[in-house]
Amino acid sequence: MNTTIQQLTKHVSVRSFEDVPLDQKQKKDLLAAARSGSSSHFVQAYSILEISDTKLRSELAEITNSAPYVKQTGVFYIFLADLYRQATLLEAQGESLAGIQSMESLMVGIVDATIAAQNMVVAAESMNLGICYIGGIRNHLAKVAELLDLPRFTVPVFGLTIGYPIVKNEPKPRLPLENQVAENKYPREQFAAMQDYEQQTATYYAQRGLNPQQTSWSEKNVHFFKEVRRPETGTFLAKQGFLLQ
Ligand SMILES: Cc1cc2nc3c(=O)[nH]c(=O)nc-3n(C[C@H](O)[C@H](O)[C@H](O)COP(=O)(O)O)c2cc1C
Repeated sequence: MNTTIQQLTKHVSVRSFEDVPLDQKQKKDLLAAARSGSSSHFVQAYSILEISDTKLRSELAEITNSAPYVKQTGVFYIFLADLYRQATLLEAQGESLAGIQSMESLMVGIVDATIAAQNMVVAAESMNLGICYIGGIRNHLAKVAELLDLPRFTVPVFGLTIGYPIVKNEPKPRLPLENQVAENKYPREQFAAMQDYEQQTATYYAQRGLNPQQTSWSEKNVHFFKEVRRPETGTFLAKQGFLLQ
């Protein structure tokens, strides 16, 4: 394993940061990494907002259920899927916006934003910084859009908090290879046979240093998916101009 792969396999989300802002050089490097990612058809359908205003950061933090590590961190970015630029281009030329409004274009924007963010994550971890994605900004998309003054065809996908870690958990055991990787055809039984992973994750959660729990991956997933989460997401996306078809 080379050093890059070693770093990737050591990834853990960090939820406790020193109260030390990153400097301009660090942020410049992180943004250079983020902005170098691949982009579907080179549309670059994403934008990044640094939330430097303390009051705004606090307001956003309260929405996320992750307030302590959104407020006290080195930097907090929000990643947007963003087709606003393309919409203005098309409108200026009197073209229809149907190609922007499609589910496919929304997916392109979400994928582009995610690739940029993960590039930033890898860069941050290579600088010995800690990170945590903050999907919690989607707890109240309409409020986030209002706070950030977002135009149509923009969608907050997640936040990313980055800073100097105070504490770190051990890496979480990933799905066993045979439950996730196969050749050519989808092996239904193999991918859904969770017994080994059940054991492994029960042990991990019981024995981890921070926040030990009596649970397992399956139990957490049943709990997570048994209800429709954030049911207003579709309404928000439609309000932003997407047709969801
Ligand atoms: C898109 C996305 C959104 C996430 N949102 C949150 C969040 O709002 N709050 C939080 O504490 N962790 C959040 N996480 C972190 C996950 O809980 C974490 O990645 C997962 O438990 C695996 O743990 P690890 O990153 O330490 O390996 C998010 C992760 C992703 C990829």
